[in-house]
Amino acid sequence: MSDPKKLFIKTYGCQMNVYDSERMAEALGAKGYVQTDTADGADMILLNTCHIREKAAEKVYSDLGRLKPLKDGNPNLKIGVTGCVAQAEGKEIMRRSSLVDLVVGPQSYHRLPAMDDLIQTGAKALDTEFPEDDKFETLKSRSKTKRGPTAFLTVQEGCDKFCAFCVVPYTRGAEVSRPADRVVREARELVETGVREITLLGQNVNAYHGHEGGLAGLIWALNDVDGLERIRFTTSHPNDMDDALIEAHGTCPKLMPYLHLPVQSGSDRILKAMNRKHTAQGYIKLIARIREARPDILLSGDFIVGFPGETEADFEATLDLIRAVQYGQAYSFKYSTRPGTPAAEKPQLPDDVMDDRLQRLQALLTEQQRAIQQSMIGREVSVLFEKKGRTEGQMIGKSEYLHATFADAPQDVLGQIRRVRITQSGTNSLGGELIS
Ligand code: SAH
Ligand code: SF4
Ligand code: F3S
Repeated sequence: MSDPKKLFIKTYGCQMNVYDSERMAEALGAKGYVQTDTADGADMILLNTCHIREKAAEKVYSDLGRLKPLKDGNPNLKIGVTGCVAQAEGKEIMRRSSLVDLVVGPQSYHRLPAMDDLIQTGAKALDTEFPEDDKFETLKSRSKTKRGPTAFLTVQEGCDKFCAFCVVPYTRGAEVSRPADRVVREARELVETGVREITLLGQNVNAYHGHEGGLAGLIWALNDVDGLERIRFTTSHPNDMDDALIEAHGTCPKLMPYLHLPVQSGSDRILKAMNRKHTAQGYIKLIARIREARPDILLSGDFIVGFPGETEADFEATLDLIRAVQYGQAYSFKYSTRPGTPAAEKPQLPDDVMDDRLQRLQALLTEQQRAIQQSMIGREVSVLFEKKGRTEGQMIGKSEYLHATFADAPQDVLGQIRRVRITQSGTNSLGGELIS
C-alpha cells in the first residue's frame, strides 16, 4: 500500500475558520489524506484565509510567495486557497499566483474531494459559489479519532446585518442556521471522542433560528447531552440578545459565565454611521440586564477605532462606554478599509490619529483586564484541563470565565474539570492550587 498523502492546512482569522479547517481535513481524510503540522513534505497545502482586515488578506499573497520553493522542489505538490479571501478574490488569486491549483470558498468546501480529483489531472479548480446543496449534509459525520476536551461547532453562518465596515456578509453570504437536531447529533459525536466543552459558532450566533426557541432553545437541548459539561457561544450581536438567552445565562447549568458581545464604538453618531442599529445606552442597559441574570459573568468585546468621521469626542465616548461596562477581555482594531463595503467610500482618518487612539483604548482595556484577573486571587474556580504547562508537573486549562489557568497537577487531570484556588495573576493567565 502506498504511503498516505500529507495535507497541511494553515488557518487564519476567526474560530469559524478553525472549525472549517477541521472539516476540510476530514473531507480530504476520506480520500486518504492525513494531516501534518508542517508544509515541508506535504502533498497538499491549503491556506484557509481571512479577509476581515487588509493585513490579513495581504498576508496570503506573501505566504503564497514563500511556498514557491516547495512547489519548485515537488511538482506534484498541490496548493489551494480556501476561506474568505478565496471567496472575495478567488479569480484574482488564480491570476496573480501561478502556484495556486485550487480556490474554494467557505460555502463550497464540501466539494474539495471532487476538486482534488480534478487538480490531480493537472487542471485548476475554482468554486466560489453559494451552492444550493448544504455542505454540512454532504460532509460525513465527525471523525471518530480521540481529541482534546474542547471543540468548536458551527451552528449558524453568514450575516444579514451589513455593518458599513464589514466584509463578512459578502464572504460568508446570507444568514443560515443548521437544524437543532443535527447540531445535537454532532455534539454527541464530539463527546464520544473526548470533548467536554463545546463553543457554538456563528458570525451572528444569537441570530440562530434552527430551533423554535432560538439559540437559547438549542443551548437547553445541548444541556441534556450526557458527557457534555460546558457550553459557550460566539459571536453575538447586541440586537439578538433575546430574553430567553439572557435568562439562560442565569439558569442553564452548563452555559458558562462568559459573553463576547461586540459593540465597536461608544458614540451614537458613529454607531449610526456603522449601521449597527443600536445605541451606546441601549448596549449599557443590555449589559445591566445580563449582569442581573448572571452577576459574575465575564464580558468581552470588539472595538474599532478610527472609523471614517470619528472625532476625538466620539472616541472618548467609546472610552466612557468601556469604563461603564468593565471588560474582562477585549479585541480592538484600527479601522481597515475593505473594498466593496459602504464605509470604503468615505474619507479615511490619518494613520497617526488611529494609532494614538488604539494605544489609549488598549491601555484602558488592559487595565480593566488586569484588575478583573487580580480580583480572582483567593477565589475558587473550575478548570477544564487541556494540556501540559510550561514547567514540569504543571497543567493548563480554562476556568469557567475563560481565563487560562495553570496549576501543579497530575497528568490524569487532562480532560477533567477540577477545582482550583487562584493564587496569582500573570499577564494573560492565572495560577492556582488544585483543591479537589
Ligand atoms: N460578527 C461579529 C464580528 C465579526 S468580525 C460581530 O458582529 O460582532 C470580528 C471583528 O473584526 C468585528 O467585531 C470588528 O471589531 C472587527 N472588524 C470587522 N471589520 C473590520 C474592519 N473593516 N476594520 C477593522 N476591524 C474590523
Ligand atoms: Fe460583520 Fe456586522 Fe455582520 Fe458582525 S454583524 S459579521 S460586524 S456585518
Ligand atoms: Fe475572517 Fe472570514 Fe472569519 S473574513 S474573521 S475568516 S468570517
